[in-house]
Amino acid sequence: MSHTACNKGCDHAWLSLGLATSGFATRVVAIDAKAFPLSLAERNLRPYRRERELQPRERASFAPVDLRLGCGLSPLSPGEVGTAVIAGMGARSICEAALGEGIADGLGVSTLVLNPPARDAPRLRAALLKNGWAVRDEAMVLDRGWLHIVVKAERATAEGHRAPMDAADALLGPVLRVRDRADAVFQAFLRMRLESVRRRRGLLPVSATYKGGDAGDLDALLEEERILCAHIDS
Ligand SMILES: C[S@@+](CC[C@H](N)C(=O)[O-])C[C@H]1O[C@@H](n2cnc3c(N)ncnc32)[C@H](O)[C@@H]1O
Repeated sequence: MSHTACNKGCDHAWLSLGLATSGFATRVVAIDAKAFPLSLAERNLRPYRRERELQPRERASFAPVDLRLGCGLSPLSPGEVGTAVIAGMGARSICEAALGEGIADGLGVSTLVLNPPARDAPRLRAALLKNGWAVRDEAMVLDRGWLHIVVKAERATAEGHRAPMDAADALLGPVLRVRDRADAVFQAFLRMRLESVRRRRGLLPVSATYKGGDAGDLDALLEEERILCAHIDS
């Protein structure tokens, strides 16, 4: 089946190459807002393209990769892409590029695969819900000391999929907090988040690495602490 995926913010295009060779996509559109990353992508794609040309039969399952200069998903035409993959940027940039003003809807994108830092996950889930997308799958990943999440979201077509997430789902993820609750990376994330909440409440001393942050609404902090404690394995 033909399926085109796009990779917004492709930079060096390693992720685009992964998509092209995974068997998932039959064509990949790699987009970046800046010319320099696209020149890196061009260089990294060269041996791959040469191999495709030299061994067309053996490499038939390797999808072609188009490079495009442009902001967000704007270089795409409606109906061109089924899945948009946006990785390596914060939730604010992801939301501006894909969710704001129904951008992904207008293009006919049916699946989003999004990869922000784990601390941005609640903001991302809230934006997905607000814009009519449902979280279908999630994973938490520790990469070189940084915690990330990968969220797969689909258009929430049926009424049932529009049901509001409860506070625990929004904070910790409807899939992660159930399926991956005992996962060591997820448990480490919960402990770090609890420490951060307690620092903001003034219950722990400010550490050298803690960047500070708004103490915020005490009721919201207490609710977050309650949810975290309920999910932390003793
Ligand atoms: C940190 S890199 C991410 C690289 C890659 N996606 C990954 O996860 O390894 C971010 C890239 O996104 C590009 N970028 C940032 N905002 C963008 C936007 N609104 N539209 C397209 N590209 C953007 C930057 O130029 C940069 O090359």
